[in-house]
Amino acid sequence: MDILRFKGLFKEKYSERSEQGPVQYFFSPGRVNLIGEHIDYNGGYVFPAALSLGIYGALRFRADRFIQLKSTNASQSVTINLAEPIVYKPEDGWANYPKGVIKQLLDDGHLLKGCDILFSGDLPDGAGLSSSAALLVLVTFMLRYADGERDIDKVAIAKFTQKVENQFIGVNCGIMDQFAVAMGKKDVAILLDCNTLHYKYTPFALGEYSLVIMNTNKKRELAESKYNERRDECEQVVDIIKKHRQVESLCQVSMSEIDKYVENDVLRRRASHVISENNRVRLAVELLDKGDIVGFANLMTQSHNSLKTDYEVTGVELDCIVENALLAKGCIGARMTGAGFGGCAIALVATCNIEQFKVVVAQEYQKTTGLLPDFYVASIVDGVRLLDVKN
Ligand code: GLA
Repeated sequence: MDILRFKGLFKEKYSERSEQGPVQYFFSPGRVNLIGEHIDYNGGYVFPAALSLGIYGALRFRADRFIQLKSTNASQSVTINLAEPIVYKPEDGWANYPKGVIKQLLDDGHLLKGCDILFSGDLPDGAGLSSSAALLVLVTFMLRYADGERDIDKVAIAKFTQKVENQFIGVNCGIMDQFAVAMGKKDVAILLDCNTLHYKYTPFALGEYSLVIMNTNKKRELAESKYNERRDECEQVVDIIKKHRQVESLCQVSMSEIDKYVENDVLRRRASHVISENNRVRLAVELLDKGDIVGFANLMTQSHNSLKTDYEVTGVELDCIVENALLAKGCIGARMTGAGFGGCAIALVATCNIEQFKVVVAQEYQKTTGLLPDFYVASIVDGVRLLDVKN
């Protein structure tokens, strides 16, 4: 969507309001994780980037102490009275995300003013591209910027919004998504050590190849319960190792320790994914730095196989789209991205083959699953930011 259209939508959606003050416009990207899946909560390395698909936000102050939340993507709007307690309500749907941010900002002592807010996004929901992190980071940034803060610490925003997602929304996610959305940079990916939050930007230069995002259009089912189950299994492994030596997270454990101390086959396979994936991230970034795109793409495919066989978070649709992508001309590597259980996969495809790639993969995928996929050729952009202020 272009910003001019969004400005028109704000006027339209708030045409009944008499406020005349300036409107501030913001953008928050989605994220794609290139490699390093189910690693953030295990204290290892991830390699995400911020996407040009994302969510726009507009804000105008009002004279009273109400915050009105509207979205062009949903019919339901929600109004919050800042003088009353803010609680999670299932019937408020998407608006629980901004509500969680507002509650936490108030709890932290921020004095919020009333305002009218509009959101509009082109990020598919529940597709593994972090629409929830994009919304949480956007609202936090908007409210703090509008309150006069300028040098906003974006790492602090990532930690703050992870806390909101964990505590108010009740999803036990790691820090990767919020970090990528807040700290993303144009044309580079972020090598993030989730244990220390040290990070390094790495140019994501693909030469003759492009990054294609493939949406299976299979909604992530059971994603939350399975996600928490995997987290729990990883913690069980750490607890076993802790009987032998001091260790904080699974990424600090070696495969030989797993072989020696962990008897349960399921737990061994979960650990094997985590330890091998963490190694793949470091190797993948080294290869990318050297310009070895084919080597990088091979590791992406290995990552998918490990997520399929050992971590078991892919499912029929993700496996089918990745298998067909790998068979298509010009594709050098493919994998699921995000939590799994549906959602999106990514592929590196020779730019000259992309059109044919989409046709062939869609045909084969539909034959097997009955679903039509969507494709996005992504560019990598800056993290959350102010776009414009207009009277
Ligand atoms: C979801 C979570 C992240 C991360 C990924 C898997 O996107 O929000 O914290 O764990 O799954 O890598």
